[in-house]
Amino acid sequence: MTHILSAVAWPYTNGPRHIGHVAGFGVPSDVFSRHMRMAGHEVLMVSGTDEHGTPILVQAEQEGVPPQELADRYNRVIVEDLTSLGLSYDLFTRTTTGNHYAVVQEMFRTVHANGYMVEQTTMGAISPSTGRTLPDRFIEGTCPICGYDGARGDQCDSCGNQLDPIDLKNPHSRINGETPKFVESNHFFLDLPALVDALAAWLETRDGWRPNVLNFSRNLLADVRPRAMTRDIDWGIPIPLPGWQENPNKRLYVWFDAVIGYLSASIEWARRTGDVEAWRAWWNSADARSYYFMGKDNITFHSQIWPAELLAYDGRGAKGGSAGPYGELQLPTEVVSSEFLNVEGRKFSSSRGLVIYVRDMLARYQTDAFRYYVAAAGPENHDVDFTWESFVRRTNDELVAGWGNLVNRTATMVHKNFGQIPAPGELLEVDRQVLATTSGAFAEVGAQIQTNRQRGAIAAAMHTVADVNRYLSETQPWKLKSDPDRLATVLHTVTQAVSDCNTLLAPFLPHSAQQVHEALGGSGEFAPQPRIEEVTDLDDESRHYPVITGDYSDVPAWESRPLTVGTPVGKPTPVFTKLDESVVEEELDRLRAKA
Ligand code: MF3
Ligand code: ZN
Repeated sequence: MTHILSAVAWPYTNGPRHIGHVAGFGVPSDVFSRHMRMAGHEVLMVSGTDEHGTPILVQAEQEGVPPQELADRYNRVIVEDLTSLGLSYDLFTRTTTGNHYAVVQEMFRTVHANGYMVEQTTMGAISPSTGRTLPDRFIEGTCPICGYDGARGDQCDSCGNQLDPIDLKNPHSRINGETPKFVESNHFFLDLPALVDALAAWLETRDGWRPNVLNFSRNLLADVRPRAMTRDIDWGIPIPLPGWQENPNKRLYVWFDAVIGYLSASIEWARRTGDVEAWRAWWNSADARSYYFMGKDNITFHSQIWPAELLAYDGRGAKGGSAGPYGELQLPTEVVSSEFLNVEGRKFSSSRGLVIYVRDMLARYQTDAFRYYVAAAGPENHDVDFTWESFVRRTNDELVAGWGNLVNRTATMVHKNFGQIPAPGELLEVDRQVLATTSGAFAEVGAQIQTNRQRGAIAAAMHTVADVNRYLSETQPWKLKSDPDRLATVLHTVTQAVSDCNTLLAPFLPHSAQQVHEALGGSGEFAPQPRIEEVTDLDDESRHYPVITGDYSDVPAWESRPLTVGTPVGKPTPVFTKLDESVVEEELDRLRAKA
Protein backbone atom coordinates (compact mmCIF):
# COMPACT_ATOMS: atom_id res chain seq x y z
CA MET A 1 0.00 0.00 0.00
CA THR A 2 1.34 3.36 -1.05
CA HIS A 3 0.11 6.89 -0.47
CA ILE A 4 -0.79 8.28 -3.88
CA LEU A 5 -1.54 11.95 -4.44
CA SER A 6 -3.73 12.51 -7.47
CA ALA A 7 -3.19 16.16 -8.21
CA VAL A 8 -5.60 17.44 -10.81
CA ALA A 9 -5.27 20.77 -12.66
CA TRP A 10 -7.41 23.60 -11.33
CA PRO A 11 -9.92 25.00 -13.84
CA TYR A 12 -10.23 28.77 -14.13
CA THR A 13 -13.58 30.17 -13.03
CA ASN A 14 -13.89 32.23 -16.19
CA GLY A 15 -16.60 30.11 -17.78
CA PRO A 16 -18.14 26.66 -17.93
CA ARG A 17 -15.74 23.84 -18.89
CA HIS A 18 -15.83 22.38 -22.36
CA ILE A 19 -15.16 18.76 -23.19
CA GLY A 20 -11.58 19.55 -24.27
CA HIS A 21 -10.73 20.68 -20.74
CA VAL A 22 -12.06 17.60 -19.03
CA ALA A 23 -10.58 15.24 -21.61
CA GLY A 24 -7.18 16.58 -20.60
CA PHE A 25 -7.27 16.64 -16.81
CA GLY A 26 -10.63 15.18 -15.74
CA VAL A 27 -11.29 11.72 -17.03
CA PRO A 28 -7.65 10.53 -16.97
CA SER A 29 -7.13 11.57 -13.34
CA ASP A 30 -10.34 9.87 -12.28
CA VAL A 31 -9.59 6.61 -14.08
CA PHE A 32 -6.17 6.57 -12.45
CA SER A 33 -7.49 7.36 -8.96
CA ARG A 34 -10.30 4.85 -9.09
CA HIS A 35 -7.95 2.12 -10.26
CA MET A 36 -5.34 2.93 -7.62
CA ARG A 37 -7.96 2.69 -4.87
CA MET A 38 -9.08 -0.69 -6.20
CA ALA A 39 -5.43 -1.78 -6.27
CA GLY A 40 -5.30 -1.13 -2.52
CA HIS A 41 -3.54 2.23 -2.38
CA GLU A 42 -4.33 5.24 -0.19
CA VAL A 43 -5.37 7.81 -2.77
CA LEU A 44 -5.83 11.50 -2.06
CA MET A 45 -7.37 13.25 -5.07
CA VAL A 46 -7.46 17.02 -4.82
CA SER A 47 -8.14 20.06 -6.93
CA GLY A 48 -10.33 23.14 -7.01
CA THR A 49 -11.16 26.20 -9.03
CA ASP A 50 -8.43 28.67 -9.97
CA GLU A 51 -9.92 32.07 -9.27
CA HIS A 52 -7.21 34.72 -9.41
CA GLY A 53 -5.32 36.51 -12.08
CA THR A 54 -6.13 38.18 -15.32
CA PRO A 55 -8.16 35.34 -16.88
CA ILE A 56 -10.78 36.03 -14.22
CA LEU A 57 -10.44 39.81 -14.47
CA VAL A 58 -10.80 39.78 -18.24
CA GLN A 59 -14.03 37.78 -18.06
CA ALA A 60 -15.38 39.74 -15.08
CA GLU A 61 -14.89 42.91 -17.07
CA GLN A 62 -16.72 41.38 -20.03
CA GLU A 63 -19.65 40.24 -17.91
CA GLY A 64 -19.67 43.47 -15.91
CA VAL A 65 -19.44 41.83 -12.49
CA PRO A 66 -16.84 41.96 -9.69
CA PRO A 67 -14.23 39.17 -9.98
CA GLN A 68 -15.37 37.39 -6.81
CA GLU A 69 -18.94 37.29 -8.06
CA LEU A 70 -17.77 35.82 -11.37
CA ALA A 71 -15.66 33.27 -9.51
CA ASP A 72 -18.58 32.30 -7.26
CA ARG A 73 -20.82 31.81 -10.28
CA TYR A 74 -18.48 29.59 -12.27
CA ASN A 75 -17.14 27.76 -9.24
CA ARG A 76 -20.65 26.38 -8.78
CA VAL A 77 -21.09 25.57 -12.46
CA ILE A 78 -17.75 23.77 -12.59
CA VAL A 79 -18.43 21.87 -9.37
CA GLU A 80 -21.68 20.63 -10.90
CA ASP A 81 -20.03 19.66 -14.20
CA LEU A 82 -17.23 17.71 -12.55
CA THR A 83 -19.59 15.96 -10.15
CA SER A 84 -21.84 14.88 -13.02
CA LEU A 85 -18.81 13.43 -14.72
CA GLY A 86 -18.30 11.25 -11.65
CA LEU A 87 -14.83 12.63 -10.89
CA SER A 88 -14.04 11.16 -7.49
CA TYR A 89 -12.27 14.02 -5.74
CA ASP A 90 -11.56 13.67 -2.05
CA LEU A 91 -11.67 17.42 -2.03
CA PHE A 92 -12.39 19.86 -4.83
CA THR A 93 -12.14 23.32 -3.30
CA ARG A 94 -11.13 26.77 -4.53
CA THR A 95 -8.28 29.26 -4.37
CA THR A 96 -10.24 32.01 -2.62
CA THR A 97 -10.46 30.20 0.73
CA GLY A 98 -8.86 31.44 3.93
CA ASN A 99 -6.91 28.20 4.12
CA HIS A 100 -5.42 28.63 0.64
CA TYR A 101 -4.42 32.24 1.35
CA ALA A 102 -2.65 31.18 4.53
CA VAL A 103 -0.78 28.28 2.89
CA VAL A 104 0.28 30.38 -0.10
CA GLN A 105 1.55 33.17 2.12
CA GLU A 106 3.47 30.69 4.26
CA MET A 107 5.09 29.21 1.13
CA PHE A 108 6.05 32.69 -0.04
CA ARG A 109 7.52 33.68 3.33
CA THR A 110 9.71 30.58 3.59
CA VAL A 111 10.85 30.72 -0.03
CA HIS A 112 11.70 34.37 0.55
CA ALA A 113 13.47 33.66 3.85
CA ASN A 114 15.49 30.94 2.12
CA GLY A 115 16.69 33.55 -0.37
CA TYR A 116 14.94 32.30 -3.51
CA MET A 117 12.56 35.24 -3.91
CA VAL A 118 14.62 38.15 -5.16
CA GLU A 119 13.46 41.67 -5.71
CA GLN A 120 14.11 43.23 -9.12
CA THR A 121 13.00 46.27 -11.02
CA THR A 122 11.16 45.54 -14.24
CA MET A 123 9.31 47.39 -16.89
CA GLY A 124 5.58 47.16 -16.28
CA ALA A 125 2.93 48.16 -18.76
CA ILE A 126 0.52 50.98 -18.13
CA SER A 127 -2.30 52.26 -20.24
CA PRO A 128 -1.30 55.68 -21.62
CA SER A 129 -4.94 56.84 -21.70
CA THR A 130 -5.86 55.92 -18.11
CA GLY A 131 -2.49 55.76 -16.38
CA ARG A 132 -3.52 52.44 -14.81
CA THR A 133 -1.38 49.35 -14.84
CA LEU A 134 -2.18 47.01 -17.67
CA PRO A 135 -2.06 43.37 -16.53
CA ASP A 136 -0.05 40.99 -18.67
CA ARG A 137 -2.99 39.10 -20.04
CA PHE A 138 -4.59 42.29 -21.24
CA ILE A 139 -1.67 42.75 -23.59
CA GLU A 140 -1.52 40.93 -26.87
CA GLY A 141 1.11 40.86 -29.53
CA THR A 142 3.38 38.68 -31.61
CA CYS A 143 5.31 35.93 -29.84
CA PRO A 144 9.05 36.67 -30.00
CA ILE A 145 9.77 32.93 -30.05
CA CYS A 146 7.37 31.39 -32.57
CA GLY A 147 5.87 34.42 -34.28
CA TYR A 148 2.26 33.60 -33.33
CA ASP A 149 0.36 36.88 -33.50
CA GLY A 150 -2.18 36.17 -30.74
CA ALA A 151 0.32 35.73 -27.91
CA ARG A 152 -0.55 37.23 -24.54
CA GLY A 153 1.74 39.14 -22.23
CA ASP A 154 2.15 36.18 -19.89
CA GLN A 155 2.16 33.20 -22.20
CA CYS A 156 2.05 32.11 -25.82
CA ASP A 157 -0.67 29.53 -26.37
CA SER A 158 0.88 28.48 -29.64
CA CYS A 159 4.38 27.45 -28.47
CA GLY A 160 3.57 27.27 -24.73
CA ASN A 161 6.42 29.55 -23.64
CA GLN A 162 6.05 31.96 -20.77
CA LEU A 163 6.55 35.54 -21.79
CA ASP A 164 6.95 38.98 -20.37
CA PRO A 165 4.78 41.66 -21.95
CA ILE A 166 7.80 43.72 -22.88
CA ASP A 167 9.09 40.86 -25.08
CA LEU A 168 6.03 40.94 -27.33
CA LYS A 169 6.36 42.47 -30.77
CA ASN A 170 3.66 45.01 -31.58
CA PRO A 171 2.15 44.91 -28.09
CA HIS A 172 -1.37 46.29 -27.82
CA SER A 173 -4.06 46.44 -25.17
CA ARG A 174 -6.91 43.98 -25.48
CA ILE A 175 -9.19 46.54 -23.88
CA ASN A 176 -8.82 49.39 -26.32
CA GLY A 177 -6.06 48.48 -28.75
CA GLU A 178 -3.64 51.18 -27.62
CA THR A 179 0.09 50.57 -27.35
CA PRO A 180 1.08 50.20 -23.69
CA LYS A 181 3.72 52.38 -22.10
CA PHE A 182 6.35 50.58 -20.04
CA VAL A 183 7.39 52.06 -16.69
CA GLU A 184 9.56 50.78 -13.83
CA SER A 185 7.97 48.53 -11.27
CA ASN A 186 9.40 46.35 -8.46
CA HIS A 187 8.65 42.67 -8.29
CA PHE A 188 9.70 39.44 -6.65
CA PHE A 189 11.34 36.87 -8.87
CA LEU A 190 11.72 33.19 -8.19
CA ASP A 191 15.44 32.56 -8.51
CA LEU A 192 15.30 29.71 -11.01
CA PRO A 193 19.03 29.89 -11.82
CA ALA A 194 19.72 29.02 -8.15
CA LEU A 195 17.36 26.06 -8.44
CA VAL A 196 18.24 24.78 -11.89
CA ASP A 197 20.80 22.19 -10.77
CA ALA A 198 18.37 20.72 -8.26
CA LEU A 199 15.65 20.75 -10.90
CA ALA A 200 17.91 19.01 -13.40
CA ALA A 201 18.92 16.38 -10.84
CA TRP A 202 15.29 15.68 -10.10
CA LEU A 203 14.31 15.48 -13.79
CA GLU A 204 17.28 13.19 -14.35
CA THR A 205 15.70 10.60 -12.06
CA ARG A 206 12.25 10.72 -13.70
CA ASP A 207 11.43 7.72 -15.79
CA GLY A 208 8.27 6.38 -17.29
CA TRP A 209 7.01 9.87 -18.16
CA ARG A 210 5.44 10.34 -21.55
CA PRO A 211 8.47 11.13 -23.70
CA ASN A 212 7.10 14.39 -25.06
CA VAL A 213 6.43 15.68 -21.53
CA LEU A 214 9.87 14.72 -20.25
CA ASN A 215 11.66 16.17 -23.28
CA PHE A 216 9.72 19.40 -23.10
CA SER A 217 10.51 19.68 -19.38
CA ARG A 218 14.21 18.98 -19.82
CA ASN A 219 14.44 21.49 -22.65
CA LEU A 220 13.03 24.20 -20.41
CA LEU A 221 16.18 23.98 -18.31
CA ALA A 222 18.41 25.14 -21.15
CA ASP A 223 17.38 28.74 -20.63
CA VAL A 224 16.28 29.59 -17.13
CA ARG A 225 15.89 33.13 -15.93
CA PRO A 226 14.36 34.44 -12.73
CA ARG A 227 10.54 34.46 -13.14
CA ALA A 228 8.33 37.17 -11.72
CA MET A 229 6.03 35.78 -9.02
CA THR A 230 4.24 39.06 -8.33
CA ARG A 231 2.13 41.22 -10.61
CA ASP A 232 0.80 44.73 -10.93
CA ILE A 233 -2.80 43.74 -10.43
CA ASP A 234 -5.45 44.22 -7.75
CA TRP A 235 -6.97 40.73 -7.84
CA GLY A 236 -4.99 37.99 -6.12
CA ILE A 237 -3.30 37.07 -2.87
CA PRO A 238 -1.45 39.90 -1.08
CA ILE A 239 2.33 39.64 -0.85
CA PRO A 240 2.98 38.84 2.82
CA LEU A 241 5.83 41.28 3.50
CA PRO A 242 5.83 44.65 5.21
CA GLY A 243 5.43 47.44 2.69
CA TRP A 244 3.91 45.07 0.13
CA GLN A 245 1.01 43.52 2.00
CA GLU A 246 -0.76 46.89 2.17
CA ASN A 247 -0.28 47.77 -1.50
CA PRO A 248 -3.64 47.14 -3.24
CA ASN A 249 -2.05 47.07 -6.68
CA LYS A 250 0.51 44.34 -6.15
CA ARG A 251 -0.46 40.70 -5.81
CA LEU A 252 1.11 37.27 -6.07
CA TYR A 253 1.12 35.88 -9.61
CA VAL A 254 -1.83 33.55 -10.18
CA TRP A 255 0.41 30.65 -11.15
CA PHE A 256 2.49 31.04 -7.98
CA ASP A 257 -0.68 30.61 -5.98
CA ALA A 258 -2.56 28.06 -8.09
CA VAL A 259 0.01 25.26 -8.00
CA ILE A 260 0.23 25.62 -4.22
CA GLY A 261 -3.43 24.58 -4.31
CA TYR A 262 -2.36 20.93 -4.37
CA LEU A 263 -0.81 21.38 -0.94
CA SER A 264 -3.45 23.72 0.47
CA ALA A 265 -6.29 21.45 -0.68
CA SER A 266 -4.56 18.48 0.98
CA ILE A 267 -4.31 20.51 4.18
CA GLU A 268 -7.93 21.65 3.93
CA TRP A 269 -8.99 18.04 3.39
CA ALA A 270 -7.08 17.01 6.54
CA ARG A 271 -8.55 19.86 8.56
CA ARG A 272 -12.05 18.83 7.48
CA THR A 273 -11.51 15.18 8.40
CA GLY A 274 -10.50 16.22 11.91
CA ASP A 275 -7.01 14.73 11.66
CA VAL A 276 -5.22 17.97 10.84
CA GLU A 277 -1.85 16.36 10.18
CA ALA A 278 -3.21 13.61 7.91
CA TRP A 279 -2.01 15.39 4.72
CA ARG A 280 1.62 14.80 5.68
CA ALA A 281 1.52 11.14 4.64
CA TRP A 282 1.23 12.33 1.01
CA TRP A 283 3.69 15.20 1.22
CA ASN A 284 6.48 14.51 3.69
CA SER A 285 7.15 10.85 3.09
CA ALA A 286 9.64 9.84 0.42
CA ASP A 287 7.61 6.67 -0.17
CA ALA A 288 4.52 8.58 -1.22
CA ARG A 289 3.92 9.09 -4.93
CA SER A 290 2.31 12.06 -6.66
CA TYR A 291 0.80 12.28 -10.13
CA TYR A 292 -0.21 15.59 -11.70
CA PHE A 293 -2.86 15.60 -14.43
CA MET A 294 -3.28 18.44 -16.92
CA GLY A 295 -3.32 19.61 -20.51
CA LYS A 296 -0.04 20.36 -22.25
CA ASP A 297 -0.34 24.15 -21.89
CA ASN A 298 0.23 23.58 -18.14
CA ILE A 299 3.45 21.54 -18.33
CA THR A 300 5.87 24.39 -17.60
CA PHE A 301 4.11 25.25 -14.39
CA HIS A 302 4.08 21.68 -13.13
CA SER A 303 7.46 20.42 -14.24
CA GLN A 304 9.38 23.61 -13.56
CA ILE A 305 7.67 26.34 -11.52
CA TRP A 306 6.00 24.05 -8.96
CA PRO A 307 9.05 21.81 -8.37
CA ALA A 308 11.14 24.99 -8.10
CA GLU A 309 8.78 26.40 -5.48
CA LEU A 310 9.02 23.13 -3.57
CA LEU A 311 12.82 22.96 -3.75
CA ALA A 312 13.04 26.59 -2.63
CA TYR A 313 10.66 25.89 0.25
CA ASP A 314 12.67 22.83 1.24
CA GLY A 315 15.91 24.81 1.05
CA ARG A 316 17.34 22.42 -1.51
CA GLY A 317 18.71 24.89 -4.06
CA ALA A 318 22.19 26.41 -4.45
CA LYS A 319 21.48 28.94 -1.71
CA GLY A 320 20.60 26.30 0.89
CA GLY A 321 17.99 27.15 3.49
CA SER A 322 15.61 25.05 5.50
CA ALA A 323 12.02 23.93 5.23
CA GLY A 324 9.25 25.86 6.95
CA PRO A 325 6.48 24.47 9.18
CA TYR A 326 5.18 22.10 6.49
CA GLY A 327 8.46 20.19 6.63
CA GLU A 328 10.31 18.89 3.60
CA LEU A 329 7.80 18.63 0.75
CA GLN A 330 8.12 15.97 -1.95
CA LEU A 331 8.43 16.82 -5.65
CA PRO A 332 6.10 15.31 -8.28
CA THR A 333 6.60 11.67 -9.13
CA GLU A 334 5.13 12.25 -12.56
CA VAL A 335 3.66 15.06 -14.58
CA VAL A 336 0.99 13.36 -16.66
CA SER A 337 0.10 15.71 -19.44
CA SER A 338 -2.40 15.22 -22.21
CA GLU A 339 -2.33 16.87 -25.60
CA PHE A 340 -5.31 18.75 -27.01
CA LEU A 341 -8.74 17.58 -28.01
CA ASN A 342 -9.92 19.50 -31.07
CA VAL A 343 -13.42 19.53 -32.40
CA GLU A 344 -14.42 18.66 -35.94
CA GLY A 345 -10.94 19.52 -37.20
CA ARG A 346 -10.55 22.83 -35.41
CA LYS A 347 -9.40 24.16 -32.04
CA PHE A 348 -12.04 24.75 -29.38
CA SER A 349 -12.85 28.40 -29.08
CA SER A 350 -15.47 29.75 -26.70
CA SER A 351 -15.20 33.19 -28.26
CA ARG A 352 -15.88 31.83 -31.76
CA GLY A 353 -18.68 29.58 -30.52
CA LEU A 354 -16.75 26.46 -31.47
CA VAL A 355 -17.31 24.69 -28.22
CA ILE A 356 -19.10 21.73 -26.66
CA TYR A 357 -19.79 22.35 -23.00
CA VAL A 358 -19.61 19.49 -20.52
CA ARG A 359 -23.13 20.17 -19.27
CA ASP A 360 -24.59 20.04 -22.80
CA MET A 361 -22.78 16.78 -23.49
CA LEU A 362 -24.04 15.25 -20.25
CA ALA A 363 -27.57 16.58 -20.64
CA ARG A 364 -27.93 14.74 -23.95
CA TYR A 365 -25.71 11.67 -23.70
CA GLN A 366 -24.74 9.13 -21.12
CA THR A 367 -21.85 10.18 -18.93
CA ASP A 368 -20.10 6.88 -19.46
CA ALA A 369 -20.46 7.13 -23.23
CA PHE A 370 -18.46 10.35 -23.03
CA ARG A 371 -15.98 8.86 -20.55
CA TYR A 372 -15.56 5.86 -22.81
CA TYR A 373 -14.81 8.09 -25.78
CA VAL A 374 -12.19 10.06 -23.87
CA ALA A 375 -10.49 6.95 -22.49
CA ALA A 376 -10.50 5.12 -25.81
CA ALA A 377 -9.82 7.99 -28.20
CA GLY A 378 -8.57 10.85 -26.04
CA PRO A 379 -5.48 13.02 -26.58
CA GLU A 380 -3.07 10.86 -24.61
CA ASN A 381 0.04 11.27 -26.75
CA HIS A 382 -1.02 13.52 -29.58
CA ASP A 383 -3.78 15.96 -30.45
CA VAL A 384 -6.96 14.22 -31.49
CA ASP A 385 -10.12 15.33 -33.16
CA PHE A 386 -13.50 14.91 -31.51
CA THR A 387 -16.11 14.31 -34.17
CA TRP A 388 -19.76 13.54 -33.58
CA GLU A 389 -19.51 10.86 -36.20
CA SER A 390 -16.81 9.03 -34.22
CA PHE A 391 -18.67 9.58 -30.95
CA VAL A 392 -21.79 7.92 -32.33
CA ARG A 393 -19.77 5.11 -33.90
CA ARG A 394 -17.78 4.33 -30.76
CA THR A 395 -20.85 4.48 -28.56
CA ASN A 396 -22.90 2.21 -30.80
CA ASP A 397 -20.29 -0.24 -32.08
CA GLU A 398 -18.11 -0.61 -29.01
CA LEU A 399 -20.05 0.33 -25.92
CA VAL A 400 -23.57 -0.74 -26.90
CA ALA A 401 -22.87 -3.62 -29.29
CA GLY A 402 -19.74 -4.90 -27.60
CA TRP A 403 -20.16 -4.45 -23.88
CA GLY A 404 -23.80 -3.50 -23.20
CA ASN A 405 -25.10 -6.29 -25.34
CA LEU A 406 -22.94 -8.88 -23.59
CA VAL A 407 -24.22 -7.77 -20.20
CA ASN A 408 -27.80 -7.74 -21.38
CA ARG A 409 -27.68 -11.17 -23.04
CA THR A 410 -25.98 -12.69 -20.01
CA ALA A 411 -28.36 -11.29 -17.40
CA THR A 412 -31.38 -12.11 -19.55
CA MET A 413 -30.36 -15.76 -20.00
CA VAL A 414 -29.54 -16.21 -16.32
CA HIS A 415 -32.81 -14.60 -15.30
CA LYS A 416 -34.94 -16.61 -17.75
CA ASN A 417 -33.36 -19.98 -17.13
CA PHE A 418 -32.54 -19.89 -13.43
CA GLY A 419 -33.62 -16.60 -11.86
CA GLN A 420 -30.34 -16.73 -9.97
CA ILE A 421 -26.66 -17.42 -10.52
CA PRO A 422 -26.53 -21.16 -11.16
CA ALA A 423 -23.97 -23.53 -9.66
CA PRO A 424 -21.55 -24.73 -12.34
CA GLY A 425 -21.02 -28.38 -13.19
CA GLU A 426 -17.65 -29.62 -14.32
CA LEU A 427 -15.73 -26.95 -16.30
CA LEU A 428 -14.53 -27.77 -19.80
CA GLU A 429 -11.38 -26.40 -21.38
CA VAL A 430 -13.32 -23.62 -23.12
CA ASP A 431 -14.77 -22.48 -19.78
CA ARG A 432 -11.44 -22.56 -18.01
CA GLN A 433 -9.89 -20.63 -20.86
CA VAL A 434 -12.30 -17.72 -20.82
CA LEU A 435 -11.97 -17.43 -17.04
CA ALA A 436 -8.21 -17.48 -17.34
CA THR A 437 -8.50 -14.69 -19.90
CA THR A 438 -10.66 -12.45 -17.74
CA SER A 439 -8.81 -13.01 -14.50
CA GLY A 440 -5.50 -12.67 -16.32
CA ALA A 441 -6.53 -9.29 -17.75
CA PHE A 442 -6.25 -7.54 -14.37
CA ALA A 443 -2.47 -7.55 -14.45
CA GLU A 444 -2.26 -6.12 -17.95
CA VAL A 445 -5.00 -3.49 -17.69
CA GLY A 446 -3.77 -2.46 -14.24
CA ALA A 447 -0.17 -2.08 -15.39
CA GLN A 448 -1.24 0.11 -18.28
CA ILE A 449 -3.36 2.39 -16.09
CA GLN A 450 -0.55 2.69 -13.55
CA THR A 451 1.83 3.83 -16.27
CA ASN A 452 -0.78 6.21 -17.67
CA ARG A 453 -1.45 4.36 -20.88
CA GLN A 454 -5.20 4.52 -20.59
CA ARG A 455 -5.97 4.07 -24.26
CA GLY A 456 -4.04 0.82 -24.19
CA ALA A 457 -5.71 -0.14 -20.92
CA ILE A 458 -9.27 0.28 -22.15
CA ALA A 459 -8.40 -1.39 -25.44
CA ALA A 460 -7.14 -4.41 -23.48
CA ALA A 461 -10.29 -4.41 -21.35
CA MET A 462 -12.49 -4.26 -24.46
CA HIS A 463 -10.43 -7.01 -26.03
CA THR A 464 -11.33 -9.14 -23.03
CA VAL A 465 -14.99 -8.25 -23.56
CA ALA A 466 -14.65 -9.47 -27.15
CA ASP A 467 -13.17 -12.76 -25.89
CA VAL A 468 -16.19 -13.26 -23.66
CA ASN A 469 -18.53 -12.50 -26.57
CA ARG A 470 -16.65 -15.12 -28.56
CA TYR A 471 -17.10 -17.60 -25.71
CA LEU A 472 -20.88 -17.10 -25.96
CA SER A 473 -20.89 -17.68 -29.71
CA GLU A 474 -18.84 -20.83 -29.22
CA THR A 475 -20.80 -22.33 -26.36
CA GLN A 476 -24.23 -21.17 -27.63
CA PRO A 477 -26.08 -21.45 -24.32
CA TRP A 478 -29.38 -20.62 -26.11
CA LYS A 479 -29.15 -24.10 -27.69
CA LEU A 480 -28.57 -25.89 -24.39
CA LYS A 481 -32.19 -26.07 -23.12
CA SER A 482 -32.06 -29.85 -23.16
CA ASP A 483 -28.81 -30.01 -21.21
CA PRO A 484 -29.46 -28.07 -17.95
CA ASP A 485 -26.14 -29.06 -16.40
CA ARG A 486 -24.10 -27.73 -19.25
CA LEU A 487 -26.37 -24.67 -19.49
CA ALA A 488 -25.75 -23.93 -15.81
CA THR A 489 -22.00 -24.29 -16.26
CA VAL A 490 -21.89 -21.99 -19.29
CA LEU A 491 -24.13 -19.36 -17.71
CA HIS A 492 -22.19 -19.47 -14.48
CA THR A 493 -18.95 -19.10 -16.41
CA VAL A 494 -20.14 -16.24 -18.59
CA THR A 495 -21.61 -14.39 -15.60
CA GLN A 496 -18.30 -14.69 -13.80
CA ALA A 497 -16.48 -13.46 -16.90
CA VAL A 498 -18.87 -10.51 -17.29
CA SER A 499 -18.40 -9.66 -13.62
CA ASP A 500 -14.63 -9.64 -14.16
CA CYS A 501 -14.97 -7.38 -17.21
CA ASN A 502 -17.14 -5.05 -15.17
CA THR A 503 -14.44 -4.75 -12.51
CA LEU A 504 -11.87 -4.06 -15.24
CA LEU A 505 -14.07 -1.34 -16.73
CA ALA A 506 -15.14 0.22 -13.42
CA PRO A 507 -12.41 2.91 -13.32
CA PHE A 508 -13.44 4.05 -16.80
CA LEU A 509 -17.21 3.58 -16.60
CA PRO A 510 -18.18 3.97 -12.94
CA HIS A 511 -21.86 4.80 -13.51
CA SER A 512 -22.59 1.81 -15.68
CA ALA A 513 -20.32 -0.42 -13.58
CA GLN A 514 -22.68 0.19 -10.67
CA GLN A 515 -25.65 -0.73 -12.89
CA VAL A 516 -23.98 -3.85 -14.26
CA HIS A 517 -23.07 -4.87 -10.73
CA GLU A 518 -26.74 -4.61 -9.79
CA ALA A 519 -27.90 -6.35 -12.97
CA LEU A 520 -25.84 -9.35 -11.89
CA GLY A 521 -27.59 -9.34 -8.53
CA GLY A 522 -24.95 -7.37 -6.64
CA SER A 523 -25.88 -4.94 -3.90
CA GLY A 524 -24.12 -2.10 -2.13
CA GLU A 525 -21.70 0.40 -3.60
CA PHE A 526 -19.50 -0.87 -6.38
CA ALA A 527 -18.19 2.34 -7.93
CA PRO A 528 -18.74 5.15 -5.40
CA GLN A 529 -19.70 8.55 -6.71
CA PRO A 530 -18.69 12.02 -5.56
CA ARG A 531 -21.17 14.37 -3.96
CA ILE A 532 -21.47 18.12 -3.55
CA GLU A 533 -21.37 19.43 -0.01
CA GLU A 534 -22.00 23.00 1.10
CA VAL A 535 -19.30 23.94 3.59
CA THR A 536 -18.25 26.91 5.68
CA ASP A 537 -14.82 28.40 5.12
CA LEU A 538 -12.58 27.01 7.88
CA ASP A 539 -11.14 30.45 8.55
CA ASP A 540 -14.10 32.70 7.84
CA GLU A 541 -17.49 31.75 9.25
CA SER A 542 -19.31 34.19 7.00
CA ARG A 543 -18.23 32.44 3.82
CA HIS A 544 -19.85 29.33 2.36
CA TYR A 545 -19.04 27.39 -0.78
CA PRO A 546 -19.70 24.03 -2.42
CA VAL A 547 -17.00 21.37 -2.46
CA ILE A 548 -16.83 18.00 -4.16
CA THR A 549 -16.03 15.15 -1.84
CA GLY A 550 -16.95 11.53 -1.27
CA ASP A 551 -16.28 8.31 0.54
CA TYR A 552 -14.44 5.96 -1.78
CA SER A 553 -13.02 3.60 0.82
CA ASP A 554 -15.35 0.72 0.02
CA VAL A 555 -14.34 -0.38 -3.47
CA PRO A 556 -13.93 -3.85 -4.94
CA ALA A 557 -10.40 -5.19 -5.11
CA TRP A 558 -8.63 -5.17 -8.47
CA GLU A 559 -9.03 -8.88 -9.12
CA SER A 560 -11.53 -11.51 -10.16
CA ARG A 561 -14.02 -11.88 -7.32
CA PRO A 562 -15.93 -15.19 -7.29
CA LEU A 563 -19.70 -14.84 -7.66
CA THR A 564 -22.04 -16.26 -5.07
CA VAL A 565 -24.14 -19.11 -6.40
CA GLY A 566 -27.84 -18.50 -5.76
CA THR A 567 -27.70 -14.71 -6.02
CA PRO A 568 -31.05 -13.64 -7.54
CA VAL A 569 -30.80 -12.08 -11.01
CA GLY A 570 -33.78 -10.03 -12.20
CA LYS A 571 -34.85 -9.04 -15.70
CA PRO A 572 -32.24 -6.54 -16.88
CA THR A 573 -32.81 -3.15 -18.45
CA PRO A 574 -30.22 -2.18 -21.05
CA VAL A 575 -27.36 -0.20 -19.52
CA PHE A 576 -26.32 1.76 -22.61
CA THR A 577 -28.44 3.68 -25.06
CA LYS A 578 -27.87 3.28 -28.77
CA LEU A 579 -27.60 6.63 -30.54
CA ASP A 580 -29.54 7.42 -33.66
CA GLU A 581 -27.41 8.34 -36.68
CA SER A 582 -29.33 11.62 -36.88
CA VAL A 583 -27.40 12.78 -33.80
CA VAL A 584 -24.46 13.64 -36.05
CA GLU A 585 -26.32 16.14 -38.25
CA GLU A 586 -28.23 17.52 -35.30
CA GLU A 587 -25.05 18.26 -33.36
CA LEU A 588 -23.23 19.67 -36.37
CA ASP A 589 -26.17 22.03 -36.88
CA ARG A 590 -25.90 23.05 -33.25
CA LEU A 591 -22.22 23.84 -33.64
CA ARG A 592 -22.91 25.85 -36.80
CA ALA A 593 -25.69 27.78 -35.08
CA LYS A 594 -23.39 28.81 -32.23
CA ALA A 595 -20.49 29.86 -34.48
N1 MF3 B 1 -6.18 27.32 -14.31
C1 MF3 B 1 -5.18 26.74 -15.14
C2 MF3 B 1 -5.73 26.43 -16.51
O1 MF3 B 1 -6.90 26.29 -16.66
C3 MF3 B 1 -4.63 25.47 -14.55
C4 MF3 B 1 -4.08 25.65 -13.22
S1 MF3 B 1 -3.44 24.18 -12.64
C5 MF3 B 1 -2.80 24.65 -11.14
O2 MF3 B 1 -4.98 26.32 -17.45
F1 MF3 B 1 -2.35 23.68 -10.56
F2 MF3 B 1 -1.91 25.53 -11.29
F3 MF3 B 1 -3.75 25.15 -10.45
ZN1 ZN C 1 5.01 31.38 -29.25
